Amino acid sequence: MSDPTRMHRHDAATAALREKIFEYTRERMEFDPPPLDKGMPFTELRALMPDTVTEEGIGGDKALQLFVETLAPSSMSTDHPAMVSFIPVAPTEASILFDLVVSASCIFGGSWLEGAGAIYAENEVLRFLATEAGLPTTAGGVFVQGGTNGNLSALVAARFDAENRLTEAGLTRPARWAFATSEEAHSSLAHAARVMDVDVIKVPVGDDGRMTGRDLETAIGNDWDRVFAVVATGGTTNFGIVDNIASVVDVAKKHNTWVHLDGAYGIAGMFAPTTKPFFDGIDKVDSFIVDPHKWLYAPYDSCALIYRNPAIGRAAHTQHASYLDVLTDTEEWNPSDFAVHLSRRARGLPLWFSLATHGVGAYRDAIESNNIVARQIADVIRDSDHLELVRDPMLSVVVFRRKGWASEDYNAWSDELWEEGKAACFPSKFRGEPVLRFAIVNPRTTLDILMELVESLKG
Ligand SMILES: Cc1ncc(COP(=O)(O)O)c(C=O)c1O
Repeated sequence: MSDPTRMHRHDAATAALREKIFEYTRERMEFDPPPLDKGMPFTELRALMPDTVTEEGIGGDKALQLFVETLAPSSMSTDHPAMVSFIPVAPTEASILFDLVVSASCIFGGSWLEGAGAIYAENEVLRFLATEAGLPTTAGGVFVQGGTNGNLSALVAARFDAENRLTEAGLTRPARWAFATSEEAHSSLAHAARVMDVDVIKVPVGDDGRMTGRDLETAIGNDWDRVFAVVATGGTTNFGIVDNIASVVDVAKKHNTWVHLDGAYGIAGMFAPTTKPFFDGIDKVDSFIVDPHKWLYAPYDSCALIYRNPAIGRAAHTQHASYLDVLTDTEEWNPSDFAVHLSRRARGLPLWFSLATHGVGAYRDAIESNNIVARQIADVIRDSDHLELVRDPMLSVVVFRRKGWASEDYNAWSDELWEEGKAACFPSKFRGEPVLRFAIVNPRTTLDILMELVESLKG
C-alpha cells in the first residue's frame, strides 16, 4: 500500500496547487462582469471531458485545468448582471471571501459543543432578522440549505404542534392533515406536502395575486379542523407578490392555526423603506424563512428558518441516539435540532461576515436600489407600444408580455441572447400564457441593461 496519508500532507505540491486555486479564485472574483457562460448538451461535454475519477487520479493541476477550461464555462454565472431569470444570485465580495474561510475551517455547525463560536455569529444574524420582523427576542432558528428545506422543516414543526395540542385536549387526529396556501405559492410547498403525505388546500386569489384572509376563509370553508398551517408568501417567485399577511394572520389566529411565511425571495424587501409596509403583520407569524442566496447577497446555499417559539421546532426535529446524547442533553443551542438535517456547514457565516463588514444600512440601500430599478423599468414597459405589463411590481420582479408574440418568438429571442452571451432572460408562464420576467436582485443590474433588453424586443 502506498502512503495512506498522501492526500493529507502539507507539502510543496499541495502548496503549489493551493496557490493556483487562489489565483483562479482571484481571477474569477475580478471579472467585471463575469462571462455569462452557457451549458452544453451532455454528449458534447462528454466528448470534451476525459475520465476524471480514476483509480490513480489525474492530479490537481489537470483537474483544475478541466474545471477552468471546460466545466466552469459550461456552467452559467448566475451573478452576471444580465442574468434576470429564476431568482439570480449576487453575493457581496465579503460574503464570497468568507465562504472560502468557512470551507477551510472545518466547523461542525450542528451543535454548540462543536461549533459554539460559529453558531454564536449565525444566531446573531437570525436574531437580527427576527427583530427586524418584529418577533420577540426569544425567537430563533437555524440556517438550512435552502427554501425547500426551510418550508418543509417549518411545516413539520407546525404539524407536530397541532398533533400535540389535539393529544393534550384528548381529541383524535383528522384522517388527512392539510395546509392552505395561495395558488401562486412556490412549488416547494406542494413538494413538502408530498413528503409529509398531507393535502394542500390551494387558495384562489384575485387579479392582483395577493392572498387575503377572506380568500383563505372562502377556500377552507368548514375544513379548518384538518388545517395545521396556513402558508402566506412574502414575495412570490414568479411575480414578487406579497400576500396580505396581516389579514391572513387574523383569520388563521381565529382558528388557532400556525402561520408560516415563505419569504425565501421576498422578505429581504422588509429592509427597504418603500417595500417594508407590504410586510405588515409579519410580527405575528409563527415561522418564516428567507434565503440569503436570493436577495440578501450571499452565495449559495442558505435559508434562514426562524420560529416564534423555537422550543416547538426543537421538539419536532431533535434526533435522539446514544452517541448524540452528549450534544442534545443540554440547554445549549444546537442548530441540528431545528430542521430536517443533522450534520451542517455553518452556512450563515458568509452573510454574518458581510453584514458585520458593511452594516445593515448597505443592505437597505442595495435592496432599495433593486426596487427602484424594478419600478423604473416597469414604467418604461407600461409606456411602450410593443410591451404590456402583466402586473404592477410590488418588489423587484417585473413581468410583462411582448404584444403579438407566441411561445416560439419568446424562445427564439431568449435563445439568441443567451447564445451571444448577452443575457439570461428565459420566458415564464402566467395562467398558461408565455410572459417575460426581470428578477432584479443584483445591484449591478442597471436600468441601462434592462432598457437594452426592452429595445431588443422591438424586432
Ligand atoms: C418563494 C420561494 N419559496 C421557496 C423557494 C425554494 O427555495 P430553494 O430553491 O432555496 O430551495 C423559492 C425558490 O425560488 C422561492 O422563490
